[in-house]
Amino acid sequence: MKNILVTGGTGFIGSHTCVKLIENDYNVIIMDNLSNSKAETVDKIEQITGKRPLFYKADMLDTSAVEKIFQENDIFAVIHFAGLKAVGESVQKPLEYYSNNLTGTLNILSSMKKHGCEKIVFSSSATVYGIDNKAPYTEDMPTSATNPYGYTKVMIEQILHDLTIADADFSVVALRYFNPIGAHKSGLIGEDPNGIPNNLVPYIAQVACGKLDHLRVFGNDYDTPDGTGVRDYIHVSDLASGHIAALKYSECNKGFRPINLGTGKGSSVLEVVKAYEKACGKEIPVEITPRRAGDIATSFADTKLAEEILHWKAEAGIDEMCADSWNFTLKNL
Ligand code: NAD
Ligand code: UD1
Repeated sequence: MKNILVTGGTGFIGSHTCVKLIENDYNVIIMDNLSNSKAETVDKIEQITGKRPLFYKADMLDTSAVEKIFQENDIFAVIHFAGLKAVGESVQKPLEYYSNNLTGTLNILSSMKKHGCEKIVFSSSATVYGIDNKAPYTEDMPTSATNPYGYTKVMIEQILHDLTIADADFSVVALRYFNPIGAHKSGLIGEDPNGIPNNLVPYIAQVACGKLDHLRVFGNDYDTPDGTGVRDYIHVSDLASGHIAALKYSECNKGFRPINLGTGKGSSVLEVVKAYEKACGKEIPVEITPRRAGDIATSFADTKLAEEILHWKAEAGIDEMCADSWNFTLKNL
C-alpha cells in the first residue's frame, strides 16, 4: 500500500480526502497542527472507513517535526492542504500568512527532495484568477491576486513550477478549487468554522439552525441574472475524489500542471438560499446590504482539462450540497 502524507488532513477538505484515499486503498498519514481543526476528526475518519490514519500533531514550520515524519515513513506522495485560508485575516496578518503558507510549503518540499519523494498535489484556489480574467476560467489564464492569502497561492504555484523546471522528475498537480461546500453523507465530518463564518454556506447553515438571525446578501446590483454574486459551488466529496484522480495522474506524468476543480456551473447567492431553504424546510431571512470589498460578480470553472486529463467530473448539484450541509449541521449542533 502506498503511503500518502496528507498535510492539513484533519481540516475540512483534507478529512474528506483522507476518507476517499482510504476507500481507494492508500495508507494515510496525517500531519496537522490543529490550528483550525480537531484531533477527533481522526476518530471520525476511522468511524467512516474502519481504518485509522496515522496522525502526527505537528507544525509544518517545525522543520525537525516534518523531517521526522519523512524519516519514520516511506512517503510515496504528498497531498498538501495545510495553510491559513481566511482572506480578511490575511490582510490583517500578512506576515503570519506568508510565513505559514510559504515557509511551511518550502519545509515540506525540502524534506520531500531529501527523501526522494517527488509527487505533490497542492491545494490552490480559483482566487489565482484574480479580478481581470472573465469566467469561465481556463488554466492558461494569467494568475494574480488581490490579498495576501491569494498571493500565497500564486507564489506557491510559482515555486512549484520552478521546482519542476529544475528537477524534471518532480510531478506537481496544483488543484484550483472553486467553492467547496457540503459535507460527508454520514454527517460526521464537514465544515465547522470558528466564530462567525465568512463564507456563504456556513453562514446560511447558522441562520438555519438559529445561531444567527439573518443572512446579509452582499449586493444585488451585479451584472448577473438576479443581481447577486455567482459562484461555482462544488461538493466537498466530489472535490476529494478529484484528489484521487490527481494522485493517479501524478503517478504517470511529470512537470507542473494546474487544474480547475469545479462543476462549471454558477449559482447566485439567492439560488443557494432557495436550495438551502428546500433542504432545511425553513425560511432563511435575508437583508440586502452593500457589496463586500474585493468581491467579483461571477466566478466559475472551465472543467474541460479536468475531464480530459484526470477523467474526473463533479457529480452533485446544489440541492444535494445544501442537503448534506444541513445534515452535518443538525448532527453537530
Ligand atoms: P482548513 O482550515 O479546514 O484545513 C487546513 C488545515 O491545515 C487545518 O486543519 C489547519 O489546522 C492546518 N494547518 C494550518 N497551518 C498549519 C501548519 N503550519 N502546520 C500544520 N497544519 C497546519 O481549510 P480547508 O478548507 O480544508 O482548506 C484546505 C486547503 O485548501 C487550504 O490550503 C486552503 O487554502 C485551500 N482552499 C480552500 C478553499 C475553501 O473554500 N475551503 C478554497 C480554495 C482553496
Ligand atoms: C471567498 C474568498 C476566496 C476564497 C473562497 C473560499 C473573498 C473575497 N474571497 O470566495 O478568496 O478562495 O472564499 O474560501 O473573501 N456572500 C453573501 N453573504 C455572506 C457571505 C457571502 O452574500 O455572508 C456572497 C458573496 O458576496 C459571494 C458569495 O456569497 O457572492 C460566495 O461568498 P464566499 O462563500 O465568501 O466565497 P467567495 O467570495 O467566492
